[in-house]
Amino acid sequence: MSVIILGIESSCDDTSAAIFKDDIILSNAVANQDVHKAYGGVVPELASRAHQQNIIPVVEKAIKDAGINRTDIDAVAFTRGPGLMGSLLVGTSFAKGFALANQLPLIEINHLHAHVLAHFIKEDENDTDQPEFPFLCLLVSGGNSQIIIVRDHLDMEIIGQTIDDAAGEAFDKCAKIMGLPYPGGPLIDKLAKEGNADAFKFSKPRIKDYDYSFSGLKTSVLYFLRDEVKKNPNFIEENKADICASLQKTIVDILMDKLIKAAEDTGITQVSLAGGVSANSGLRERLTELAEEKKWETFIPKFAYTMDNAAMIAVNGYYKFLNKEFVKQDTAPFARTEF
Ligand code: KG4
Repeated sequence: MSVIILGIESSCDDTSAAIFKDDIILSNAVANQDVHKAYGGVVPELASRAHQQNIIPVVEKAIKDAGINRTDIDAVAFTRGPGLMGSLLVGTSFAKGFALANQLPLIEINHLHAHVLAHFIKEDENDTDQPEFPFLCLLVSGGNSQIIIVRDHLDMEIIGQTIDDAAGEAFDKCAKIMGLPYPGGPLIDKLAKEGNADAFKFSKPRIKDYDYSFSGLKTSVLYFLRDEVKKNPNFIEENKADICASLQKTIVDILMDKLIKAAEDTGITQVSLAGGVSANSGLRERLTELAEEKKWETFIPKFAYTMDNAAMIAVNGYYKFLNKEFVKQDTAPFARTEF
């Protein structure tokens, strides 16, 4: 029997809907919200309002692109959290209404688990490049930095995480200090390509086990630039590429040192990246070097599925559907707590 899942994602500033049939993605519609650019970060109230405007057209597009009818859908999977409460409420309420109106089962999805399951989004039957269980996943996004042991589609253990800022936040906040627009991560990546990664040294945290901390790095960049700008007001402009390259190398080193430790301690050699920061070219290059050096088999989802998207929600929903993990209509979103 074929199973068709509608996935709904609205945890932050992207409204997305996707259709997944058995283990193949049929469509993944995303509406980005440019409104936040002017404010240097996501404004929660504006995000909720844009989700409210976008949700119906995005779902209609996903159904149309997939070439199916609304009545073909077998279940609705939605992001229950973590994320911005106002944003989550839009997707959750839509999913509940759609499920009720069409008498479909409802499946709640943890946004972070879904990022990991982005590895299992197949675009066609020949798309078989997927990690085998167990594998390690370094999940790096704007809101999270975690090392996860993935034992099965629905069996994951977080063995390390950030105690303050996430890796994406470190990129974005340091970019803001340099006067770069939001989101700064992709810009730092671009500028770093022209710079010398050994030009400047920034401090690395000493944190236990597999946990991360990025707030100290942000402070060290702030003080360093403040002191240099006092001596030369054009310091940032004249050294932009070198600052970006050095900063990116520091963040990549911090992330990879813990991932190497986790791989050595667990003996797991299938290693993957997930989340928005996995688009970073420095991180990707380092992973490729490590694959060679440590004899790891490495995996990174396709670019479209590393950012926030509903395809990953739908694929997670598919595995929960097979496991008959449904929720009732009285379910409510959560901003932080894990479930
Ligand atoms: O997973 P994601 O789309 O959503 C959130 O967690 O909100 O990740 C967004 C984050 C932002 O912090 C952005 O600056 C970062 O991913 N990012 C990058 C790159 N592309 C996106 N950071 C560094 N280099 C990149 N190429």
